[in-house]
Amino acid sequence: MKMLVVGVGGITNGGKSTLSQSLHQQIPNSCIIAQDSYFKEDSVVPVDNSGFKQYDMLDALHMDTMMSHVDSWRSNPDSFLRERGLNTEPAAEPDSEEVFVLIVEGFLIFNHRTLNELFDQRYFLEIPYDVCKTRRGSRVYRPPDPPGYFDGHVWPMYLKNKLEMLNVASGIIYLDGLKPKEELLAAVRENVFQEVDRLRGRLQ
Ligand SMILES: Nc1ncnc2c1ncn2[C@@H]1O[C@H](COP(=O)(O)OP(=O)(O)OP(=O)(O)O)[C@@H](O)[C@H]1O
Ligand SMILES: [Mg+2]
Repeated sequence: MKMLVVGVGGITNGGKSTLSQSLHQQIPNSCIIAQDSYFKEDSVVPVDNSGFKQYDMLDALHMDTMMSHVDSWRSNPDSFLRERGLNTEPAAEPDSEEVFVLIVEGFLIFNHRTLNELFDQRYFLEIPYDVCKTRRGSRVYRPPDPPGYFDGHVWPMYLKNKLEMLNVASGIIYLDGLKPKEELLAAVRENVFQEVDRLRGRLQ
C-alpha cells in the first residue's frame, strides 16, 4: 500500500479549504484532515492584554488529536477511508499498486515539527494584506471576529507564524492565491498525479 501526504497551508482566506476540497474530489483514494476541526473550546483559549482571543497559535489547537488521526490514516489508509464512508477505488491497472493520498490543510500545518516531517509535498497559499482583510471580513467565523481582531491579532500572528515556519519547514511551493481557483487546482493536481504515477512505478 503506497501513500502520499500533501500539505496545503497558507494565510487565512488564502483558499486552503477550497483548493483541498477540489483536490480531494479529483484524486482517487484521497481524504482531507483539516486543522480547523481541532480548535480548542473558546473558554480555554487565552486572551491577550487587548482582550483578543489567542486563536492563531498551535496552543489553541488539539494537535495531539489531529496527529492521532493522521497516524491512524498512516497505519491503514484503506480502513481510514472506509470508516468515514469514503469509497476506495482499485488501482487502474492490474499490476500497479493503489496510492492513497492524504491532504492535510490548515494555517499552521508546517509550524508543527512532527506533522511537518510527514509531508511529501508542501504548498503554501499567499494573498496580500488588503485582499486577506477583505476576504476575511466577508466571512462569518465561530466565534465571530471582534472589531479590530484582524489588525490586532490575525495579521501580526500571520507574520510571526510565517517566520517561525521558515525555521521548521523547507521545500515549500508557494502559490499565488490571487490566481483563479481552477488554475491553482490544475497546478497542484498535476504535481500530485505525477508523484502518484511515480509511486505506482509508471514513471522512471
Ligand atoms: N483562488 C481564489 N480566488 C478568489 N477567491 C478565492 C480563491 N480561493 C478561495 N477564494 C475565496 O476566498 C474565501 C476563503 O476561501 P477558503 O475558505 O478556501 O480559504 P481558507 O484559506 O481555507 O480560509 P480559512 O482561514 O477560513 O481556513 C472564500 O470566500 C473563497 O470562495
Ligand atoms: Mg479553511
